[in-house]
Amino acid sequence: MKNQVGHKLIRYGAVSSTNEVLKRLAEDGVEPGTVVVAEVQNKGRGRLDRTWESPKGGLWLSVLLDAEKQTAEGKTGLITLTAGCAVAEAISNTFKLEARVKWPNDVLIKGKKVCGILGEMLKVEKKQLAVLGIGVNVNNPVKKGYDFSPFSTSLTEELKKELAMEELEAEILCQLEKRNALLINGEFNAILEDWRKLADTLGKNVRIITPTGQLEGMAKDIDDNGSLLVKMLDGKIETITAGDCEHLA
Ligand code: BTN
Repeated sequence: MKNQVGHKLIRYGAVSSTNEVLKRLAEDGVEPGTVVVAEVQNKGRGRLDRTWESPKGGLWLSVLLDAEKQTAEGKTGLITLTAGCAVAEAISNTFKLEARVKWPNDVLIKGKKVCGILGEMLKVEKKQLAVLGIGVNVNNPVKKGYDFSPFSTSLTEELKKELAMEELEAEILCQLEKRNALLINGEFNAILEDWRKLADTLGKNVRIITPTGQLEGMAKDIDDNGSLLVKMLDGKIETITAGDCEHLA
C-alpha cells in the first residue's frame, strides 16, 4: 500500500494550487502516493512561475512521490518526463486519441498542448519527496498561445463533445503507478525508452530558451538523466538540462 499512487485521494472544491496544498500535507506527514485533486485552482502555477489557468472543467491534480533514489542518482528529471508519458498513455487509452510528449514534459495532441506538468522537490524530515502537479485541459476553455506550443487545446475541443473526467483520472493514476514502480526500482532505462517511443520532439528542429540564452538545432535524443541532446548547425551536440522547447516547422 505504501507509495501506491492514489492510496489516499483527497478532493477539494477550490484551492490555491494543488501543489501548494500537497506540500503542506507532506509537511504534516502524509505518505508518498497521496493525491490531491481540485475542481478549481485560484493560483494554479505553471513552470517558470507562469500562471496556469485552472477553471472548472479541467483535471487539476498533484501526486506525492518518494524521490530518494532519483535524487541520490541525479535523475530527478526523469520524474516529470515519465509523468508526461503516463498522461499521454492515459489519454490514448481512455479516448482513443493519439497523445505524444514534448520535452521536457508537455503532452500534445496534434502538436497542441493539452497537459502541463510541474514537478517540485521537497525535503521533509530528511526524506526526499517530489510533488508532481498535472494539469489536463479536459472540458475547460483554453487560452490560445499559452506557452510555446503554437496553440493549446483541450480534450473537448479535439473530440467535439463534453467528457466525463473520472475514467481519465483513474487511468492517469494507474499509468503513474506503473511508472512510479520503475522509478522506485531504479529501472531508468525503461523510463527513457518509454519516453523515446512517445516523443514528438525527437527528430524535430527546435528552439530552446534556457536561463542563459537561446539556441536552435535538431533534437536528437535524451541522455540518461533526461537532458535533451540537440545537434547544432556545426555538428556539435549541446546537452540541455532545463529550458523551454519550441518545435519549429
Ligand atoms: C506548465 O506546463 O507550465 C505546467 C503546468 C502545471 C499545472 C498543474 S495543475 C495541478 C498542479 N497545480 C499547480 O498549481 N500546477 C500544477
